[in-house]
This record gives sequence, C-alpha cells and structure tokens, in this order.
Amino acid sequence: MTEENRFIDRYRTGNTPWAHQHPDFNLVETIKNKNVRPCKAFEPGCGLGVEAIWLSRQGFEVTAMDVSELALEKARELAGSISAQLNWAVMDIFKDTLPKEEYGFVFDRGFFHTFDTLEERQLVARKIASSMHEHGLWLSLMGNKDGVPVRTGPPLLTATDIVLAVDPFFEIISLEVSVFGNEEVNPHKIWRCLMKRR
Ligand SMILES: C[S@@+](CC[C@H](N)C(=O)[O-])C[C@H]1O[C@@H](n2cnc3c(N)ncnc32)[C@H](O)[C@@H]1O
Repeated sequence: MTEENRFIDRYRTGNTPWAHQHPDFNLVETIKNKNVRPCKAFEPGCGLGVEAIWLSRQGFEVTAMDVSELALEKARELAGSISAQLNWAVMDIFKDTLPKEEYGFVFDRGFFHTFDTLEERQLVARKIASSMHEHGLWLSLMGNKDGVPVRTGPPLLTATDIVLAVDPFFEIISLEVSVFGNEEVNPHKIWRCLMKRR
C-alpha cells in the first residue's frame, strides 16, 4: 500500500491520532505576533480542516487540500455554512499540479513531516514554493526528533532534515521548539518553522 493510501485508510478506520478540536495555538500566535495579513492561503494535508476553517474566519481566502476525500467530507461538515467560503481540494501533492505564485501564506500541521526521504521533502518544498508569491510565508509544524519517540506518534525530524529540504527555496525566519496545540496532556515536541519564499 502506498503512503497516500495508508492515510486514506486511516480516515476510513478512524485511526487519526492527530485529530484535534481547536485551532493550533502555534498558528494563532504566528498570525497575530508576525502580523500576517489576510491573503490567499493554502493548507496542504489539512485533514479535518480545523485550522483552514480558523484562517477563513480571520479573513484569509483559503484553499485546503488533502489526499483523503473522507477527511475533506468531514471538514466540510465541521465548517458548516462557512464551508462555502473555502476551497476544499482532494489532491495528492506528488501527482497533482498546484497553481503558480498564487498564495501569500501556507500552513501545514504534520503534513511536511510525513515524507520520509530528503528527495521527497525537497520535491514537496519546491512545489509549495512555486505556488507562493515571492516573500510569501510558510509556517510548518513538524515532529521533533528530540522529543520522546512514541510508537503511535508523529514522524520526527532533525533541524538538519528541515534545513536541507527547505533552504534552497525558503529563507528560514525562525525555527523554534514547541509542542502540538491539541487537547493532549503531554503533547508531542515539535518544530515550529516559519519560512519566507526566496
Ligand atoms: C498527520 S495528518 C495531519 C492532518 C491535519 N493537518 C492535522 O493536523 O490534523 C497528515 C495529513 O496529510 C495528508 N497527506 C498525506 N500524504 C499526502 C499527499 N501525498 N497529498 C496530500 N495530502 C497528503 C493525510 O491524508 C493527512 O490528512
């Protein structure tokens, strides 16, 4: 089974430990503290769409995509009437084409870290970069290798893994240690990486 089909299957069987109810504080803080103004925004691997919905409520014009059609169906339900203002797209980042220089802000939570090899991560970073305006911002939340490894936990990256993949396309504005914003008592340690498209 491909990695993409594995994710599709996990939504079918309800094996989605990353699901959470409230917008991740790492996104909320970044938008406020870095004064990111509403613009066209893109969320790859949006899952159940909690952050895409929040961004839309802040005035961003959001395209939220995921390889799982079921995840997006649930996201649409969760969004209720605001769903009409969001563009939900069933896409595979490797197979489908992204628009050129469309977005001013990209957010991903646990999407970029799912790719196992440097080649895959570089390909994804290049694709995301080409969909963004020059100097557009990308905030990525990724499992941190210095955290406690848990069998069912997120993939864990080192700072080197991140820098090698994104540096050709993005200037790193900040790379900080944080935790996932969710309802868990001991959330996983993550990297909160804010980047500017070169
Ligand atoms: C760890 S989950 C995170 C979901 C959501 N961002 C959250 O934090 O709740 C990773 C998401 O990426 C999606 N995904 C994985 N590979 C993908 C691909 N090649 N193209 C598009 N989406 C993909 C999965 O379906 C899944 O929803």
